[in-house]
Formats: sequence, structure tokens, C-alpha cells
Amino acid sequence: MLSNSRILNADFRSKIMSADEAAKLILPGDTVGMSGFTGAGYPKEIPLALARHITEANDRGERFRISVWTGASTAPELDGALAKVDGIEMRLPYQSDPTCRARINAGQMEYIDIHLSHVAQFVWSGFLGKLNTAVVEVTGITEEGYLVPSSSVGNNKTWLDMADKVILEVNSMQNPLLMGMHDIYYGTRLPPDRQPIPIIKSSDRIGIPYLTVDPKKVIAVVETAAQDRNSPFNPPDADSEKIAQHILEFLEHEVKKGRLPESLLPIQSGVGNIPNAVLAGLNKGRFENLTAYTEVLQDGMLDMLLSGKMTCASATAISLSPEVLVRFNNDLDTYRQSIILRTQEISNHPEVIRRLGVIAMNGLIEADIYGNVNSTHVMGTQIMNGIGGSGDFARNAYLSIFMTPSTAKGGAISSIVPMVSHVDHTEHDVQVIVTEQGLADLRGLSPKKRAKVIIENCAHPTYKAALLDYYERSLRDSVGKHTPHLLNEAFLWHRNFLEKGHM
Ligand code: COA
Repeated sequence: MLSNSRILNADFRSKIMSADEAAKLILPGDTVGMSGFTGAGYPKEIPLALARHITEANDRGERFRISVWTGASTAPELDGALAKVDGIEMRLPYQSDPTCRARINAGQMEYIDIHLSHVAQFVWSGFLGKLNTAVVEVTGITEEGYLVPSSSVGNNKTWLDMADKVILEVNSMQNPLLMGMHDIYYGTRLPPDRQPIPIIKSSDRIGIPYLTVDPKKVIAVVETAAQDRNSPFNPPDADSEKIAQHILEFLEHEVKKGRLPESLLPIQSGVGNIPNAVLAGLNKGRFENLTAYTEVLQDGMLDMLLSGKMTCASATAISLSPEVLVRFNNDLDTYRQSIILRTQEISNHPEVIRRLGVIAMNGLIEADIYGNVNSTHVMGTQIMNGIGGSGDFARNAYLSIFMTPSTAKGGAISSIVPMVSHVDHTEHDVQVIVTEQGLADLRGLSPKKRAKVIIENCAHPTYKAALLDYYERSLRDSVGKHTPHLLNEAFLWHRNFLEKGHM
């Protein structure tokens, strides 16, 4: 067990230094792999110290920028702090920070938006170039020199294996009882040496509970004591409740038809208020012995584990509201049996998602009348966050559900459009679209039938007539009648909103 000091290995203890000293070991032009996934387990002090050094360098007239790789989104202390001082040259694979977003959209920061399951293999195979330094938060270091992972695992195994130099932040605010919850699989290989990933159920453990690192690469150990971002959730609004209700009725219908078992199939749920409302609905509903194979464990899933509705949740990160975090920390010994945190190449592994038959539920920005989905770009050119794991899950799920309010910007924009302004998920990977208006089950439908059911069931009444009019004129005037479109008009639909100043 970990003692108060959290760093039980003498060699690692001899490398303890301040965040400022450690940050100085990161050089201009470096590529840095940082821990962090959905505001969980990111380094808390080194990025802030680095931002201070970058400011000092800028004041001396020197340019100091680094490339930042992470698991997924982090927090103001990392993405926000580095973006504010213009310290990021290139960012991957996912972000949700307002300053990063503004810089990316202004063309001042490069951004590579990658399927989260692809990152590790891109790095192993060298596609992304050299990784100079890993900066990884851990909960503690054992006497033998094993690293006890933190509230997220993400790409940490890859960063520790592939970086030339490693800096560790040992965060004493992370609960020491996290030890034993992680499952780090060291059996992944690149083709042609790949072996099957031996996960048959969400609850299967296939690895070890620690991360390993070559001690010779560890150049600094920094002690920190800071909470994760832990953003509070708003209570579900009326639209989220309605969307959740449509999904629950649909799942019930699928069980009655014999297409889903009584305990459903492992659930994947994106983060946010709509997914949380769906999970709250499931928690109140009649389904028992549910499981999750997902990326992020949020409040709703914890409630289900506590109530016993859910028996096991596999993820790569735990991202909770402050209030639920207190409950989690108090009862961690109980949760430890039912939560597994894996590396993100395994939590999002297409082979496993397909084998388990995951029910994937993710958000969208806009969907078109034929079922193509844009999850990432506002009006085709401005990135919001990134594709995250939505592609990993949607493409390989047994049931792929996308959900959204039918309008955005207070009703000024329809989320259902003639043709999406950017495509993340094609019509082939989108099986169900849900808005507060209703649910469109697209399985087994040709494009023309999909258009009718999407407009009829999902579009907001304000936009229904315009969408139907577009569809009927397309059917009449389009050259091709398989997926009828009037290309100029499809473009104009977006331009009209742009001209009205709605982004
Ligand atoms: N046109 C313009 N803006 C739109 C829009 C549209 N059709 N739809 C949404 N937006 C804007 C909202 O106005 C909001 O911006 P604001 O905060 O400036 O008001 C923002 O997009 C987020 O929308 P919101 O309604 O709050 O939805 P959300 O929090 O559920 O996020 C996504 C929706 C698509 C951005 C989010 O689900 C996402 O990033 N998805 C991709 C990654 C993913 O799916 N991860 C989970 C996989 S595990």
C-alpha cells in the first residue's frame, strides 16, 4: 500500500524537484505527451510552470512553442494555460478548451483531430514523429518502482514507453484506493504480429494494475496536491429528458422484439447532460444487470453502480462532478470491484467494441436528412472539440445512436440540415438519430426513406416544411435519384445562417 509520502521507491524519491525546475527540462520545439482525459488525471502544475517559462521567453523576444499530445481533453491548467501564452504549436488528438478552440479556428494553432483508438498505434509506428517528453500524473509510486495510475489512463502507457524523457507528477489529492482499479494491457502489437484482444465481457481484466517505466528515463518527479477539473453537471433540461425518454422507449421496444437482451448490451455514452439524462432514466427504469464499455465514467454511471442497476463499468477515465466525487472517494472500496480503467487503445478498441456489441450513444452538431453526422465543425469550418471516441464507437457498435436537441442557438439554427457542412460519421455508421421531437430508426432504410423519417420524426416544427420542400424539389430536380440533392441550395442553407450572424 502507499504511505503518506506516495513515492516509496528511493531512486524516484531522489528525483523530486519543484514544478518550475521540472518544467525547465522541457525545451522549445519539444513534443510532449501529457496525461489527461476528459478533465481527469492531467498534470496540474508542470503545464502552469511551463506557461510561466514561455511567458518569460516571449518577454525576452524568444519564441517558445511545443506540440502537445494527450489522451483527450484536459483543463484550464493545461490546455488553457498553454494556449493563452501561445505556447502550443500543434495539438492532438482532442481538445475542448475555449482558448485552444479560438486559436485553432484563427489558424494560429495546428490541430490534428484523430480517432482516440488510433493515437497509440500512430505513435508506436512513428507516423507522428518523435515524442521527446512524457509528463504523466500518477497516484503514487510503489517500492518496486511501479506507477499507480491516476483518475485516467488515456495514452499514458504509450507516452511512458515512447518518450525519451519522463516527468512524473505524483498527486496526493488522488485517492490511494484507486490502486487496483486499473487494467494496463501490455500485449498490444503492431501488424503483422497482432493477437486477439482477449476481452469477452466488459468485466474481463487482461493486464496488470500498474504502469511501468524505465527508471533511467525519469528525469523529474514533482509532488502535487490538486483536484481534477470536476465540472458540475446541470440538472437535465426538458429537451434532454425528452431525448432520454425516446431512447428508453426505443430500447424497451428492441428488447420486446428480441433484438436486445433483457440486460441490454454494454453501454457507451458520451459526456454531457443528454447522456447523463439517459443514464438517469436507465437507473430509474426496469433493466437490471447493465454493463458499460465506454470511454468516460461520469455521474450517471456511478449512480447506476451504486444502485446495483449496473454491475460493471469499463472506461479509461473517471470524470465526476465535485459533489459526486466526494461520494466516490468515500465509497471507493465498493466501486473498485466494479470499475475497470484501461488504456484508451483498449477502451476504444474496434475489435472489442464489435465483439461486445456495444450500444453507442453520442452527441452531434448537425445531421442531414440522409443520416450523415457532423460532430465536430460549426458551419463546416470551425472546429468545436473533435471526433474523440465517437467514431471508434459509432462505426463498430451493435447499435449506434446519435442524439441532439433539434435546434441550436436558441432555435435560430436547425440541427437537421439538407447536407451536413462537414462529415464525421457517414450514413453507413449512423443507425438511430434522436432529438426531443422524436427518434428516427434508420436501420434497413434506403436514403429516400431515411430522409422522410428523419424530417418527420426529428426536425423541429419551425424547419420541417423547409426541409420537406428541399427534399421534394431534390427528388424532382436532382440528376441522381438515389440520394437526391440540389447542391447549390444545400450550401445556401448554411450560408443563410452564416449571413444572419449565427456563427
Ligand atoms: N450549429 C451551430 N452551433 C451548434 C450546433 C449547430 N447545429 N449544434 C451545437 N452547436 C453549438 C452549441 O451552441 C454549443 O456552443 P456554445 O457553447 O457556444 O453555445 C456547442 O455547439 C455544444 O453544443 P451543446 O448543445 O452544448 O451540446 P453538447 O455539449 O452535447 O456537445 C458536441 C455536442 C457534438 C459538440 C459534443 O458531443 C462533442 O464534442 N462530440 C464529439 C466527441 C464525442 O462524441 N465524444 C464522445 C465519444 S466518447
